[in-house]
Amino acid sequence: MSAATFVEEDVETQSKPRQVLGNEQFEGQAPATRPTLTAGGQPAFFSCWDLHAYYGESYIVQGVSFDVREGEIVALLGRNGAGKTSTLRAIARVGDPELKHGEIWLDHKPLHEMKAHQAAQIGVGLVPEDRRIIQGLTVEENLKLAQIAPPLGWSIERIYDLFPRLGERRNQEGTTLSGGEQQMLAIGRTLARDIKLLLLDEPYEGLAPVIVQEIEKTLEQIKSLGMTTIIVEQNAIAALHMADRAIILDMGQVVFDGKSQEVLDDADMRQQYLAI
Ligand SMILES: Nc1ncnc2c1ncn2[C@@H]1O[C@H](COP(=O)(O)OP(=O)(O)OP(=O)(O)O)[C@@H](O)[C@H]1O
Ligand SMILES: [Mg+2]
Repeated sequence: MSAATFVEEDVETQSKPRQVLGNEQFEGQAPATRPTLTAGGQPAFFSCWDLHAYYGESYIVQGVSFDVREGEIVALLGRNGAGKTSTLRAIARVGDPELKHGEIWLDHKPLHEMKAHQAAQIGVGLVPEDRRIIQGLTVEENLKLAQIAPPLGWSIERIYDLFPRLGERRNQEGTTLSGGEQQMLAIGRTLARDIKLLLLDEPYEGLAPVIVQEIEKTLEQIKSLGMTTIIVEQNAIAALHMADRAIILDMGQVVFDGKSQEVLDDADMRQQYLAI
């Protein structure tokens, strides 16, 4: 059965999906919301449904479900240890944590059936928290390495247009860049591949406010081109100002899914779940 058929059948029958990872163990824990439909009844561009993921015996992601519309920026927030990075890693199919149950769909393709390299090939671009700039390679070599295999995304010149600082430092070793420039390189390297979903894990971490603003502007530009993005950020206020929607995790579960503005307006909720 093709993914497209799957979605059409969902719309028609509203029945439980058939291809669920680890079906028996978590039977009955999924919310009523269908994974392939947004609240408005439209197929979501990205959706994850009832994700349960473990590091060995440690049960960390405990039934996470949400969806993202095409071109939307969603902020995935929560206190330290809430499970944000683990959720992003489960979506990118990194393998650790191990996804034991759930469905993940991107543009009608079942990510939950894929390994990380397949997820990357169909358009998942994870920019990890530690940035992973490759030692011994220049800025340009880091970008070229990302393009070693198709599908190719942005050209290197286009990435330099977006991040002129990278162009100026194209021959400098990547690991000698400032923190902000390394973040730009990590984002640029992801755009060098043809991605449909950008996953950003704490892109502002350790950066001066002026650099945060610079990267925010770039993310706005990327958004204006229609990129669908999930951003995890400790700097929740900055993320909320940029995002259309916020999802808050607490102890591996979704405790809020709604408009960013609702979180900005609700001091009690911010205090309870974000400590801000
Ligand atoms: N490799 C691992 N092995 C075992 N437990 C882990 C591992 N990585 C994370 N955890 C645990 O999983 C839980 C969620 O961690 P995760 O990194 O997903 O949280 P987070 O919301 O990203 O937190 P932070 O804001 O600190 O980055 C924490 O209790 C953490 O200790
Ligand atoms: Mg984290």
